[in-house]
Amino acid sequence: MINWYDKAGNLSEKVVSEFRATLLAWYDQKGRTHLPWRTNTLPYHVWISEIMLQQTQVETVIPYYERFLAELPTVKALACADEELLLKLWSGLGYYSRVRNMQKAAQQVMADFDGEFPTTAKSLQILAGIGPYTAAAIASISFGEAVPALDGNMFRVFSRLLKIEADIAQPKSRHLFYEVILPIVDPKRPGDFNQAIMDLGTSLMRAKAETQADSPFAKFNLSYQDGTELNFPIKSKKVKQVPKFYAAIISEKEGGLAYMQRPKTGLLANFWTFPLHEFDSWDAIYEGVSATNADAKQLNISPVTHLFTHQKWQVMLVQVAADDEQWTYLTPEAYEGLPQTTLQLKLQAALKENL
Ligand code: ADE
Repeated sequence: MINWYDKAGNLSEKVVSEFRATLLAWYDQKGRTHLPWRTNTLPYHVWISEIMLQQTQVETVIPYYERFLAELPTVKALACADEELLLKLWSGLGYYSRVRNMQKAAQQVMADFDGEFPTTAKSLQILAGIGPYTAAAIASISFGEAVPALDGNMFRVFSRLLKIEADIAQPKSRHLFYEVILPIVDPKRPGDFNQAIMDLGTSLMRAKAETQADSPFAKFNLSYQDGTELNFPIKSKKVKQVPKFYAAIISEKEGGLAYMQRPKTGLLANFWTFPLHEFDSWDAIYEGVSATNADAKQLNISPVTHLFTHQKWQVMLVQVAADDEQWTYLTPEAYEGLPQTTLQLKLQAALKENL
């Protein structure tokens, strides 16, 4: 049993160096070191491979990668290439904006960097289509910068090894993972370190695979040791917000506007709002309102949007001449005293803009 952290909470140098040695020895023996972008680590080559690998599997990418470099062997060639050729080389990979961005980035490299790629993860992100992951991959593989390339594999592997409980669905967790992993990256072989983690994440530490007792990584894996491995990484489910469409009725009488009290249960229970009528869709609002009210007028062009935990309301203000016995007409002074909801405040603001 190993301890990544000492009693004072500091990362153990001894464990870190043992882990690096184990990982890189395993990579040299079992990793996919023969992949073409691993034998030639020029930034132009690594960059093309990383962009292609964003949505496509390794085996599929290899022939595309070879063809792309045969046709466009330099960043200058890419910067000047005809769009037709680009699309031909990309045909079948999908997400064509990726290759269009690549050409933009190549033009940036030619115009702003004298034809040479920036050499750090930070500065690489200036280029079109290069985010934190791709920048870290290029910086570590091509320039030896000791930074972690955080992708799904990296989150899974390290959340399991160290039992990191941060929710990877939350953008802020990225920073936490970065800080934890940064001092573990091998400064002598950062590119191999990152690519070894990718290989580990697609073999011994796949999403559904539990570590086996004879794995060289078992002893480093805190979640394996207490049987919680498959709980990691922690990823909250995004709640689905069901879209709902409402018409908010604006009806004026004797200096007052129509209001209605919401039902005793459900969202906004008991609050007073403009009368709200639910429809199945926007089209239904137009049809429903004009069928019952020839004079109805849709007031605001863009509807008011209001989010609840499980629902997304879009509310269209509709002015009508009609009256309804369920409505109560209140002057601004009378309404002022009643408890207000955020939705109602938004509707009033939208109404003001339309007056
Ligand atoms: N997926 C993304 N980057 C990769 C790389 N450098 N090697 C293998 N698979 C990858």
